[in-house]
Amino acid sequence: MKRIQSSTILLACFSLVFASMMIQCTSGDSKSPQDKKIKEIVSTMTLEEKVQYLVGTGMFINLPDSIRRQFGRRDEAEEDTAYTNMVDRVRTYLPGAAGFMAEFPEKGVTSQVLADGPAGLRISPTREGDEHTYYCTAFPIATLLASTWDTELVYTVGEAMGNEVLEYGADVILGPGMNLQRDPLCGRNFEYYSEDPLVTGKMAASMVKGVQSNNVGTSIKHFAVNNQETNRMSVNVIVSERALREIYLRGFEIAVTEAQPWTVMSSYNKVNGPYTSESHDLLTKILRDDWGFEGYVMTDWGGGSDVVAQMEAGNDVIMPGRPQQIREIITAVKDSMLDESVLDRNVSRALRVMMKTPRYNKYPFSGASDLEAHAEIARQAAADGMVLLKNSESALPMDPAIKGVACFGNTSYDIISGGTGSGDVNEAYTISLFEGLGNGGYTPDAELAEVYNQYIEAEREKLPKPRNMFEAFMRGNVLLPEMSVSNDLAQQLAEKAEIALITIGRNAGEGGDRQAVEGDFYLTPVEKKMIRNVSDAFHTNNKKVIVVMNIAGVIETASWREFADAVLCAWQPGQEAGNAIVDVLSGAVNPSGKLAISFPMLYEDSPSVKNFPGQAVEMEGMEDDRPDQSGFSFMRRRPWEVVYEEDIYVGYRYYNTFDVPVAYEFGYGLSYTTFAYDNLELSSTDFTGELTVSIEVANTGDVAGREVVQVYASAPEVKLNKPEEELVAFGKTRLLEPGETETLSFIITTRDLASFDEATSTWTAEAGTYTIKIGASSKEIKASYDFTLEEALTAGMVSKALVPEREINRLTEK
Ligand code: BGC
Repeated sequence: MKRIQSSTILLACFSLVFASMMIQCTSGDSKSPQDKKIKEIVSTMTLEEKVQYLVGTGMFINLPDSIRRQFGRRDEAEEDTAYTNMVDRVRTYLPGAAGFMAEFPEKGVTSQVLADGPAGLRISPTREGDEHTYYCTAFPIATLLASTWDTELVYTVGEAMGNEVLEYGADVILGPGMNLQRDPLCGRNFEYYSEDPLVTGKMAASMVKGVQSNNVGTSIKHFAVNNQETNRMSVNVIVSERALREIYLRGFEIAVTEAQPWTVMSSYNKVNGPYTSESHDLLTKILRDDWGFEGYVMTDWGGGSDVVAQMEAGNDVIMPGRPQQIREIITAVKDSMLDESVLDRNVSRALRVMMKTPRYNKYPFSGASDLEAHAEIARQAAADGMVLLKNSESALPMDPAIKGVACFGNTSYDIISGGTGSGDVNEAYTISLFEGLGNGGYTPDAELAEVYNQYIEAEREKLPKPRNMFEAFMRGNVLLPEMSVSNDLAQQLAEKAEIALITIGRNAGEGGDRQAVEGDFYLTPVEKKMIRNVSDAFHTNNKKVIVVMNIAGVIETASWREFADAVLCAWQPGQEAGNAIVDVLSGAVNPSGKLAISFPMLYEDSPSVKNFPGQAVEMEGMEDDRPDQSGFSFMRRRPWEVVYEEDIYVGYRYYNTFDVPVAYEFGYGLSYTTFAYDNLELSSTDFTGELTVSIEVANTGDVAGREVVQVYASAPEVKLNKPEEELVAFGKTRLLEPGETETLSFIITTRDLASFDEATSTWTAEAGTYTIKIGASSKEIKASYDFTLEEALTAGMVSKALVPEREINRLTEK
């Protein structure tokens, strides 16, 4: 990296050079044979065909009338039989896929089949008149994958997932999801990786590379700042340029620059004014000009409101598409409200991706994938991402002599493999904890299982039946009330079983946020009593109690953890759930996961609590002030806004800077062994743009294990306020045998140390003393080193974009 004085003149020069490099790249590209071919195809397409390609072929599924209207009515397109015949054809290409693009075979334009989602391919597992089944692998949720801190493993998961995309006949998978986990209650946090943008970006980049190694595409989503489900269709997020660049866009930037996803999905919400899908600043200035994105952007399903603005902003493809939208775009061109060259540009981008798709390249997909091999990968990933939060007196791994286990908690039997909504997968099976124990050679108490199974069945019967597919989709996350465990029941089991496992289950999903109430963030009295009674009974009998959290997002732990000997955060581990949990409990796998999100003591301690999920904005003529409860755009778009007053202080950046105690900090996780850190070395004490940091990690315990090593930097405060520390790199050792050592090295660049200076739109590392800290967590720092920057360094200037509409009352004071 070249050292540049932070003077405005030099910065202006830098941006000119950067801009001309961008122009050269684009114009150089246009001479390629592929570009010639694209130009040729576009020149043969009629205006109608171009628009039909850019607007998806709809979602003519069995939905209530009011909803169907939003997704396009079959009869609306009826007058154009050539079009409706084509639509009818492409929509058979993959039953259960979320979106289909049009095709014009005579022009060399093939359809693109787009299917969800982040935890595995989501398609219909069965088809009418077909005996064959099309189940897909339910991999662990993204939050668990991030807790592995293992980018190679995430690549392997992506590789397996991508193979299912290829072999089942899809072209693009609608994932990974990679919004920041701003607030513990966001209903879709399970689909997202972390509260930290570096972890998010690196995980997403590995996932994209893994999936795309199969020559199928990904769609990183939801771009951007989609950090809540409440009013997701209409909420206007007001956020500073700095928080955008450093926190909310940073992960997307890493994924785009390191992995070039084929597509990006814009989000439903607005950012600083316009819908993201109508934001030229976001989709053109930032995504393409600043980051060099080469693929196409699609809307989220039904997102935004003005298709012409979307076309112009660089939101190339509209999903799922409605005939009405086709008409609107054609009319806009005919009325000279939209230049046809905008459509040519967008079609060209979509065609460039099309040429890479298996469908265009006539890949003979088999309709089957190696599900057994993928289940193994899902199991390994699941075990590697579980986080051991507590382990008093080595309660875990379970003593090999123990066989008889009492499983309490509904989710021991009815385990939750993943969240609900479009992030759910239709897998062939899910292994419960009860089954996993049996598979692992244990004897889970069968009588207790019978009591639970009967209870679960009866409770399920009581649930109101969803009236249609849509209700089923939106209500998927209803959790059955926990069965109450009396003193007597606990006592009976404590006498016959050798150990107690208690699962605490939580689900969440698309269309709604979680609540800071009992039964969601907080445990219910019934759950607390279950933990208390089981703990009393088993401890009186000198037997251990292990709590396993089968959760989609953070819950309260501080008030009850003292009653458990060990606490394992198993997240939602995918279809191999029970087997993977037992791998960790038994010690077959030594836990090596660490938290990529902080666990606050109380929900009320979270930095976003004052501003989640925002508030309704008064508007004349809006007599109905019910918020839309998220969902699709047929719902009333009551204007709401949310102001991100916590600014850059998200997650540990807040807790560590403002000394707010947490139950478990970012980066925390225990192992069955211990590690020592030694010999911190820096390649130079004089930072001139790049530095290599290395550390020796030794396994000092009795069993083999892997350690996640985190590198944080603390920066001096000159002009800009700074968090106490920020993650700048991370790595994971290989499996180290007892006594074995590995040296991990990390490269730190100016950009890693820099903050975003809104005054100059520049990444700037201010002059002063920096501390590099190597930690086993964000709090447990093992070694540190100071160095000084005599002068400020910059790491590039970017577009002035997405300036908030008004002054934000930002958190800055320490
Ligand atoms: C979700 C997306 C999903 C799409 C297609 C939307 O409701 O927000 O994440 O990919 O539906 O199913």
